[in-house]
Amino acid sequence: MENGNVKREGFSSGMAVFFATLGSAVGLGNIWKFPYLTGKYGGGAFLLIYLLCIVFVGLPVMVSEFYIGRSTGKNAIGAFTRLKGPKSRWKYIGSAGILSTYLIMFFYSCVAGWVYSYAFKAVLGSFTGITAKTAESKFTGAIIGPLPPIIWQIVVMAVVSAILIAGVKKGIERITRILMPVLFVLIIVCDIRALTLPGAFEGLKFLFHMDFSQLTGVAILTALGLAFFKLSLGMGAMITYGSYFTKDNNMIGTSIRVALSDTLVSLLAGLAIFPAVFSFDMEPGAGPGLLFMTIPLVFSQIPFGSVLLVAFFVLTSIAATCAMISLVEVPVAYFTEEKGIPRTKSVVLNAAIIVAMGSLAALSADGKSILGGIRIFGKTFFDLFDFTSSNILLPLAGLLIAVFTGFFVKKDDVRTELTNQGKIKTGAIIDVYYFIIRYLTPALLLIVFLYYTGLTKILFNL
Ligand code: PHE
Repeated sequence: MENGNVKREGFSSGMAVFFATLGSAVGLGNIWKFPYLTGKYGGGAFLLIYLLCIVFVGLPVMVSEFYIGRSTGKNAIGAFTRLKGPKSRWKYIGSAGILSTYLIMFFYSCVAGWVYSYAFKAVLGSFTGITAKTAESKFTGAIIGPLPPIIWQIVVMAVVSAILIAGVKKGIERITRILMPVLFVLIIVCDIRALTLPGAFEGLKFLFHMDFSQLTGVAILTALGLAFFKLSLGMGAMITYGSYFTKDNNMIGTSIRVALSDTLVSLLAGLAIFPAVFSFDMEPGAGPGLLFMTIPLVFSQIPFGSVLLVAFFVLTSIAATCAMISLVEVPVAYFTEEKGIPRTKSVVLNAAIIVAMGSLAALSADGKSILGGIRIFGKTFFDLFDFTSSNILLPLAGLLIAVFTGFFVKKDDVRTELTNQGKIKTGAIIDVYYFIIRYLTPALLLIVFLYYTGLTKILFNL
């Protein structure tokens, strides 16, 4: 028993910690956002900036979230009240986190639904012989609805709920441990096929060629935002998962391994997509449709393409599902621990909220959708959920988390937790972490935040 009457589950080993955390990081961000943004901003140079953002912003914030979660053994809000007392305003970082989690879930569950529907259609072989025109009409058909996108969103939530109801060990741990290795195998199969296509080299050149002329301020700031979204930071997911970590886990080591593996998956996704795109003379900067239109079109034209298409959309479904469970776990942990609602009830309640609000995203994803014409602050529901969370709340919470761990908790407490009471000899790495989290990370995040809220325009004319 811990914290009164709620008995807490946790992960059972270092391996479980790694796969679950990686499961949260790897998601639609790697396979959908990363390739199209890299395509849009010119390849290798964008990649380089992205890697720097991972090192100087992503990693340090991740270590901080793990510290906050594991040292308290609590959910995203409870962790702050445990560290600073129930009246402390720091708990609003947790509240902002839960709010962003909901906003992300509303549109993420919708895109995950499209991915499920594509996996299903790929299995049925319905992409055979498609042309550029039919690829487009298939995509709009899948997203305009009204019924199919909502039904698929419900399917996603049913799968995610079943995993979460099974619990932290029997659900999250068991599923991620099986599915993450499967994902790696499938992505490597896709890579081998894509890299052996004629003209594949052009794709490789594109991904690694350093063209700094495309590196505008917008590109740099986009890379920073992507790093954040990619590693599931700023919304309590890593605090919640951190609270399930084993006490002997080396959290700095875990952060580095997760960030490296996650980046590897993004690169592998790029290696599966760009060679194929170039081999067929298609447009690498095709935007969000790259995944849903270009890929089926390209893969349906190559030998073994139909099998590959199934592999590709199954692996994307796995990525989306494992990321989605880490999102839903945030409010579920909060509801069970702070409000005393039993786990199953919490999961069902949250799934219902996500389907109800998420259908607003599902029905506004395209201009032709039923709610596609409605604008709030000039944005559709879908874009509003994405924009407010990724571009405003995440960087803001990340900034506050950096300031919180850098200045408002005792350095010795952080050191004790990160070294597992002195058992791990980390040398100077904690001092390096401390320097980055105090100065560099807040400065970089402040710039992004000012930029996204339009203040840089007013202040610096950027
Ligand atoms: N990291 C996930 C991805 O790349 C998205 C995500 C964001 C998951 C925030 C959980 C929390 O798709």
